[in-house]
Amino acid sequence: MSNLTSPYDELADAYHATIDPDGAGLIDPTFDALAGEVRGQRVAAVACGQGRDARRLADLGAEVVGIDASESLLAHARELERQSPRGIEYVHGDAQDLRPLADASFDGVVCYMALMDIPELEPTLRSVARILKPDGWFVAVITHPCYKSPAHGELVDHVEGTYRRIAGRYFEEGPHNSATRWEILPRVAYHRMLSTYVNTLVGAGLSIEQMAEPIGDRPVWKEAAGLLYFKCRAAR
Ligand SMILES: C[S@@+](CC[C@H](N)C(=O)[O-])C[C@H]1O[C@@H](n2cnc3c(N)ncnc32)[C@H](O)[C@@H]1O
Repeated sequence: MSNLTSPYDELADAYHATIDPDGAGLIDPTFDALAGEVRGQRVAAVACGQGRDARRLADLGAEVVGIDASESLLAHARELERQSPRGIEYVHGDAQDLRPLADASFDGVVCYMALMDIPELEPTLRSVARILKPDGWFVAVITHPCYKSPAHGELVDHVEGTYRRIAGRYFEEGPHNSATRWEILPRVAYHRMLSTYVNTLVGAGLSIEQMAEPIGDRPVWKEAAGLLYFKCRAAR
């Protein structure tokens, strides 16, 4: 029995009830576009939580394994799988080693909105590279490190009536008090500079093929990017 836990264990019911209570799966056209044609592919959803990303990939035709450190979120994922089977396997494990997953066993890996919750980036990305087959792909989605740095806020431009994003403490990498985040998220998150993400991806052998910064729904996210997407490729 593993003693691996996640700060999400205590928040699991609230997270599940807010994020995807009926289990319909992730709705994110930018994610779908970057993942591309996944039909028939074996895909790992790393840090899958209650499985909304895993369900989306399965609905797009992939054979999916979801892995997460939170048994409480995985319980929701497994219950949704029981209610509406998609053939998804859920595994309890640490993204920083992905020990339950074999080398070179996946065509693709996704990590949706989770790298900021994982303490160590380098072993996580090295583990992603390890489980990918040659030429396999990796899609990661994170809160934008430039606009959601450890200190941030919003200003209203009274001339234009539009929003401005202010961001500070950008160079302070590592854990920070993230109490300003949504209440369904833990109070600690891990900040890295954009260059750290890029250099660590490349250092793990994951070359960047594409990035995306879609315009969001809230007024402030029409002025600055709230999310950052990477699509990477393992070596042939
Ligand atoms: C914001 S949630 C995202 C979950 C899911 N991908 C989604 O989009 O709903 C972050 C997830 O990262 C997981 N997590 C944090 N640290 C982890 C680790 N070391 N190994 C595996 N999962 C981890 C948490 O348990 C949580 O499920």
